Amino acid sequence: MFNFTYSNPTRIHFGEQQIAKIAKEIPQSARVLVTYGGGSIKSNGIYQQVEQALSNHTWFEFSGIEPNPSLETLAHAIELVNKEGIDYILAVGGGSVIDGSKFIAAGAHFDGEPWDILAKQAKVTSAIDLGVVLTLPATGSESNSFAVVSKKATNEKLAFGSEHVHPKFAVLDPSVINSLPQKQVTNGIVDAFVHVMEQYLTYPVDAKIQDRFAEGILLTLMADGIKLINDRSDEKARANVMWSATQALNGLIGAGVPQDWATHGIGHQITALYGLDHAQTLAIVLPRMMSVMRAEKQAKLLQYGERVLAITAEQFNGDIDKTIDAIIDKTEQFFASVEMKTRFSQYQLGEDVIEPIIAQLTQLKMTKMGENQTVTLDKVKAILTASL
Ligand code: NZQ
Ligand code: ZN
Repeated sequence: MFNFTYSNPTRIHFGEQQIAKIAKEIPQSARVLVTYGGGSIKSNGIYQQVEQALSNHTWFEFSGIEPNPSLETLAHAIELVNKEGIDYILAVGGGSVIDGSKFIAAGAHFDGEPWDILAKQAKVTSAIDLGVVLTLPATGSESNSFAVVSKKATNEKLAFGSEHVHPKFAVLDPSVINSLPQKQVTNGIVDAFVHVMEQYLTYPVDAKIQDRFAEGILLTLMADGIKLINDRSDEKARANVMWSATQALNGLIGAGVPQDWATHGIGHQITALYGLDHAQTLAIVLPRMMSVMRAEKQAKLLQYGERVLAITAEQFNGDIDKTIDAIIDKTEQFFASVEMKTRFSQYQLGEDVIEPIIAQLTQLKMTKMGENQTVTLDKVKAILTASL
């Protein structure tokens, strides 16, 4: 195991009817900005619960943060924050609203052009305090320090991370899942699954706790993810999927282990160029990433196969390639069972996507990705070609 420093300062309020807790989490004297997306929170009653909880606070609101939040939209929120002297942001939404709010929180304190935080990885030295009411289990953004923001003008989708934007608290009420469109439930399960894979499917460093914990999250997402897709009223599945998604990317399983993130690196370009949802891109790339990088990832692929999928080399008379093929097939079958597509052609996209994605990665200098920096552009091309 590598050396690591681990801290996760987000206080979690998990369970139904917990939204009222925000009243005590946010200081009475704060000037609060409630940020949200396209309005789903108004039709499912979450807005009304927030309104009730903040009835003794001074608060403003900023709506319209879109999926894959854009600089163009968030710049207006930064103006509002500065104009109204906001000193606490409450993000009520999924990953897009939370990420957008992290950018607003950092951007409002940033001395310079806020986009430099992403484009130049300029250091964030302070940010407005942030709290979260999560409405979509998927990204883990509710208790991590990362955010992904897009610049529409240039088709860029970039990430930044800073401890200063780590949420102070997050409310995780699994009943919010009730109003989600089925597609978003699918997206959430797959995104969380791939987050685990990016931190697990590398090479062994004898990190037994991280491995076992990662395998536990994968097993839970597979079992309860399918249950949830088939029956939204399954309260146990709702709770287990929501907690899995948070645990998948809150730093714990990634502490002290090598990490990959090449699937995400490629996936972000697919979203930026072709507008596919974040998780849809991951489900296209991951199976071929597993296949093309099978030699380097062999030990962990086999460990995943045995412990998570009950597939072993013995079942294939010791033929490692056939075993890995079966492991990849079963992973794709899982995606299909939660109603996720895994090919470009299923989105009416063909081989003309390959060059623009490669060009975009080249421009962003993402030419050596993965845990060993061996996911080169040749490999990316092979992965994309096999994913058509
Ligand atoms: O805008 P509203 O009206 O809220 O509707 C949203 C949106 O249309 C809807 N929704 C959310 N909660 C709902 C609901 N509809 C009904 N009932 C509810 N309870 O769902 C749609 C999608 O929301 P979005 O926030 O975009 O989804 P998600 O949580 O999957 O976030 C995706 C974004 O997070 C980034 C992705 O790249 C993408 O931009 N990621 C952030 C990460 C992080 N910060 O650590 C890591 C991830 O890998 C990912 O990159
Ligand atoms: Zn993701």
